[in-house]
Amino acid sequence: MAGWRGALIVLEGVDRAGKSTQSRKLVAALCAAGHRAELLRFPERSTETGKILSSYLEKKREVEDHSVHLLFSANRWEQVPLIRDKLDQGITLVVDRYAFSGVAFTAAKENFSLDWCKQPDVGLPRPDLVLFLHLQPADAAQRGGFGRERYDDEAFQERVLGCFQQLMQDPSLDWKMVDASRSIEDVHREICTLSEDAIRGAAHKPLGQLWM
Ligand SMILES: Nc1ncnc2c1ncn2[C@@H]1O[C@H](COP(=O)(O)OP(=O)(O)O)[C@@H](O)[C@H]1O
Ligand SMILES: [Mg+2]
Repeated sequence: MAGWRGALIVLEGVDRAGKSTQSRKLVAALCAAGHRAELLRFPERSTETGKILSSYLEKKREVEDHSVHLLFSANRWEQVPLIRDKLDQGITLVVDRYAFSGVAFTAAKENFSLDWCKQPDVGLPRPDLVLFLHLQPADAAQRGGFGRERYDDEAFQERVLGCFQQLMQDPSLDWKMVDASRSIEDVHREICTLSEDAIRGAAHKPLGQLWM
């Protein structure tokens, strides 16, 4: 125990919004500024569930939609002991996608309610800050590489964005909308400022539970 805890900072957004780029830069900048910070990402492809999810995303295997939703959730839950442990040690965690992507991607499919999609993730560690990298799917498509993995489709990404917007209505979470259409450096500067504030704010507050 460090006497204070680290912050749980999540980056969300549609595909190609810049989450992975910004997560890496944020961890590097926080470490350079003297914080202890580490990067996590979901799905975590190295575990047993992660291997199934990875081949699903690469379209190398099919998994029934409800089943895959629960596997994505399980892939987060299995990291919870590690998340709690790191935060307790005073390490700030920057997380590239979390339950919000999990919910938004399934809820964007036919015949899934947002409420059903949220249930398996109820009680996960609640992020202290959710940075939503906002980018129109049409602009994201310009960034190249579209069409390789499952879900890489502009119409589907529009539906995902709509689901994210519904999740953002929840006042129990600290969502910060970041304009991700700007340069990598401009986005980075804003994210650093918001994260420094979150780290200060979280230090002496107990970790919450998501959607409870
Ligand atoms: N602000 C930006 N402006 C232009 N291109 C960007 C920006 N941020 C990221 N990119 C590029 O867009 C692509 C997707 O970025 P990435 O960080 O992998 O997005 P995500 O993880 O959200 O899918 C990469 O080629 C990356 O270099
Ligand atoms: Mg990414």
